[in-house]
Formats: sequence, C-alpha cells, structure tokens
Amino acid sequence: MTNPVPKAELHLHIEGTLEPELTLALAGRNGVELPYANAEELRAAYAFEDLQSFLDLYYALMAVLRTEQDFADLADAYLARAAAQGVRHAEIFFDPQAHTARGVELATVLDGLGRALAAAPERHGITTRLIMCFLRDEPVESARATFEAARPWFGSLITAVGLDSAEVGHPPAKFREVYDLAREAGLRLVAHAGEEGPPEYVWEALDVLGVERVDHGIRSMEDPALVERLAREQVPLTVCPFSNVRLRCVKTLAEHPLPRMLEAGLLVTVNSDDPSYFGGYVDDNFRGLREELGLGEEELRRLAANSFRASFLPEREREAHLKAVEAHRFA
Ligand code: ADE
Ligand code: ZN
Repeated sequence: MTNPVPKAELHLHIEGTLEPELTLALAGRNGVELPYANAEELRAAYAFEDLQSFLDLYYALMAVLRTEQDFADLADAYLARAAAQGVRHAEIFFDPQAHTARGVELATVLDGLGRALAAAPERHGITTRLIMCFLRDEPVESARATFEAARPWFGSLITAVGLDSAEVGHPPAKFREVYDLAREAGLRLVAHAGEEGPPEYVWEALDVLGVERVDHGIRSMEDPALVERLAREQVPLTVCPFSNVRLRCVKTLAEHPLPRMLEAGLLVTVNSDDPSYFGGYVDDNFRGLREELGLGEEELRRLAANSFRASFLPEREREAHLKAVEAHRFA
C-alpha cells in the first residue's frame, strides 16, 4: 500500500473484522466445530445476496468468540490492519446482544475489547471510541436491558450508542425510549439508516432518535428534501462503498452514489463496515473510489478531512489531524 492518507474510521463493526484465519484459530482454541476445513473454504462462503444473508453468516461465526482474550485478539488484529491503512482514530461498533444471547458475559466482551483499545495509542498510534449497538430486529426490551447492564462502562469505555442489524421492517422509532435514556446518560447517538431501508428511516433517525450521525444513509439520495436537510445541517454520513456493493445495495462500485453525495455538499465519510467480509479495509475503499470512480486527490483529501470533522474527538485533536491531512502527499 502506498502512503495511505491519515483518516478516522467511524463505521466499523469489530465482529466484522473476524478474518477466516483468526476464525479457524479461535474455533480450534475454544473447541468450536465449524463446517469449513480451511480458510479458503470459509472465504468461499462470503458471497451475499443482501444484508440478511450476510448477517446470517456474521452471527453464526461469532460462535468462536468466547473469552476475554478472544475479544482482545480480535480488536488488536483490526487495529494493526487499520494502522497500516492510515487510520489514526477509530470509532468502533460492537453488538453486545449477539454475545450475551450465546451465554458470553457482557464483562467478558468489554474487558477484552477494553484491553486492546487501551493499548492502541501506544501499540498502533490509534485513538478509539467504543459504540454499543442495539440489534434492531430484537425486541426493544432486550435493548433496554442491555443498556442498563452496560451502565458501569458508560463514559469510561462506551461513549455512544448505535442501531444495526436487519433494517427493513425495523424503523428507528421503535428505539425512541432507549435513545432518550442514552442521551440522558450523556452518550453520543448514531444509527444505521437508509442502507436497505427507505429515506423515511433517515428522517426518523434524525427527528425521533436525535442522532448526530447517520450510518450509511445512501438511500437519502432518493429524497431531495432530505438531501437538502442533511447538507444544510452538515449531518455526517458514514458511507461504506465495498459493503454496499457486496450486499447489493448498489450494483457496482462505478455506480456508487458517493460522488453525487459529495456534489450535493453532504458531509460524507468513507468506511469499511465489516472489512473481513466485504473485500477490504478502509484505505482499500479509498483506492476503489480512485480506481473505479475516478476520484482525485482533492476529493480523497476532502473525505479524509471529513472523517475527522465527523468524529467525536475534541476540537483540538481534530484540528491536529486536519493539519496532517492537509500536509499529506499522495504518492
Ligand atoms: N451489522 C454488521 N454490519 C451491518 C450492516 N452493514 N448493516 C446493518 N447491521 C450490520
Ligand atoms: Zn454497519
């Protein structure tokens, strides 16, 4: 990789960084049986028709994550790869319900992730935030119970809540109460909306949940009034180009709406979502945009700058990163 531009990654599911080799190693370590003989066979299963077909495999493979060390190893492996792709700051999602439902304690997940994240500035030159996501296709009572169980980590490790999993049929408004509680607890608010779901879900995420950032949001482009609102308020959108193609939200990278989103004046950022499953990490997405969509240095620099502007970093740290983006020389 040639000289990646410094950037923040703001849309990254830590469970989506589970590479086939680590999956098999953890399966061996924990005595979990998987129907794949080797990494190639497992990788061959990474062919998806839509979001749900991906989620089925994504949740199934989480079975290998059992101990605090597993979660620490998972996060450390991501951070090493991210550093090599120019990531200086990462705001990382995790799915607590996907682990507690399998009998893994919340403390096991958080102690493991927390250990890797605490070491990240020294080990990898990356600062981090952790975002707890609720599974929108689970009952809201489960989200509320998860929220209460996680209180001891608020502020110290968990700084925001998010909303993910199967979108269509699970509108944001279902989680109004939990988002109200999160706001009262001083947490930052984001949500997936407008990935497979309609523009109405993006309006709801903004107006009912009060999110500060929309994850994906690509279907906003179908609604001119929404585009106007997002541009006027400079609401950050964490767009994930490789993910959108692999999950068939967009036919090909060459047809991705990202250039139109930039033209419309939206605060767009580029992210990898679930990089192990979607064919690349964040700078691979940048490279894809350059090669398939013809984005030039000026646009790539703008996307990198947007990633820090849209982050939850304090102003002073943001400004220091923005200077580094400005000074960057694309090789
Ligand atoms: N969980 C992990 N990746 C996701 C995605 N792209 N959309 C919704 N939920 C997810
Ligand atoms: Zn996502």
